[in-house]
Amino acid sequence: MFKFSTLLGLVALVPAFTLAVGEWGQCGGINYTGSTTCDAGLVCNVINDYYHQCLRGGTVAPPTSSSSSSGPSVPPTSTSTSSGPQPTPDAGNPYIGYDIYLSPYYADEVAAAVSAISNPALAAKAASVANIPTFIWFDVVAKVPTLGTYLADALSIQQSTGRNQLVQIVVYDLPDRDCAALASNGEFSIANNGLANYKNYVDQIVAQIARTCCPLVTSAITDLACLSEYPQIRVVAVVEPDSLANMVTNLNVAKCAGAQAAYTEGVTYALQKLNTVGVYSYVDAGHAGWLGWPANLGPAAQLFANLYTNAGSPSFFRGLATNVANYNLLNAPSPDPVTSPNANYDEIHYINALAPELSSRGFPAHFIVDQGRSAVQGIRGAWGDWCNVDNAGFGTRPTTSTGSSLIDAIVWVKPGGESDGTSDTSAVRYDGHCGLASAKKPAPEAGTWFQAYFEMLVANAVPAL
Ligand code: BGC
Repeated sequence: MFKFSTLLGLVALVPAFTLAVGEWGQCGGINYTGSTTCDAGLVCNVINDYYHQCLRGGTVAPPTSSSSSSGPSVPPTSTSTSSGPQPTPDAGNPYIGYDIYLSPYYADEVAAAVSAISNPALAAKAASVANIPTFIWFDVVAKVPTLGTYLADALSIQQSTGRNQLVQIVVYDLPDRDCAALASNGEFSIANNGLANYKNYVDQIVAQIARTCCPLVTSAITDLACLSEYPQIRVVAVVEPDSLANMVTNLNVAKCAGAQAAYTEGVTYALQKLNTVGVYSYVDAGHAGWLGWPANLGPAAQLFANLYTNAGSPSFFRGLATNVANYNLLNAPSPDPVTSPNANYDEIHYINALAPELSSRGFPAHFIVDQGRSAVQGIRGAWGDWCNVDNAGFGTRPTTSTGSSLIDAIVWVKPGGESDGTSDTSAVRYDGHCGLASAKKPAPEAGTWFQAYFEMLVANAVPAL
């Protein structure tokens, strides 16, 4: 920061020489009087009405002086998917060249957990988990306003470190959510205006990302910088864990059959809207023990392909997220006995089997894989055990060294230590899976902190923390 302000001071002192501004320096904005020329190879990007910045790879010139009279503008309440400028994605793996922003929400949870651990060695290991990037879940609409704070924070980190930042979010608030289970039933119901509420939730996420000064841009600018307030902060989304997998295999469950239209419309809406602000999206695709059974691969691929096509093949749509909040290894040295007789006994076998089915249907076969809690195998009574599986450990760290050209990144989606569901049999959201012998108990409500589970994940981590 010191370096930048020194440079800006120089710029303000000698504007007559039109001293060019270096990378990250200010080059425009309301009340700014310094140079608006960037060094060679840099472009002056509109960050907001008050701050334009020299960046590599940007393409948007700042608006002219007409912008200075209008003052701060407000986020749009809705965005269009069919008209107006559309951003253009970078080709290839969106994770390459970016540091993943660390979730402050999770860091707070971990800090509180650490303070409750008396064993110093375990506490030190536990503290290190806060430095491992984990997705930020927007599981209720009330959390959405924090997204803007995180993006602003990521931008400030990017400016002070010079390292590109990528914010990972989970979009998770469909009406009649978790239709085949009980533990994660959500806040919206289809019978009570749920789909409209969901669209409003998506709009609010988009508004957090959307640029506040869009009305000031009148020319045909088609760069992401005019659509996002944080054009150089990359956002990656996992969209609606479990939802479409339930549409493939669980339509025999009345709640899932009743949710089919709303899930399809809701997910389509989310993908289209996220696309307008340049969010790289991966739709959830269950895991090897769900859609990875040979009989499910074709129907799953067909459903995903239909969804993608009907959404208008959104340009930022990147592919599928697998094993979210589950326990499978990406590369198992040998099949866990519970996976028998499925030849696709781990995530790489599942992905390798699904990819050609997707590609032949015109669907982008790229993947991210959750390995956050996958360290220990042989701990489930059945492959379908998904709730707070006992003896699990933190798994392979997030990386783009995945060993497969199909896999963009190994990620941690489920924040380890947050419960999968309550073991209180009298709770409204009690699901029998959370009472199984394989489930650690007593467990609190889904999404809330489960201290004993977190400490177990820390102790059993592979590689060790
Ligand atoms: C819960 C959510 C939570 C998420 C991540 C889900 O099982 O239903 O409330 O945000 O897990 O922990």
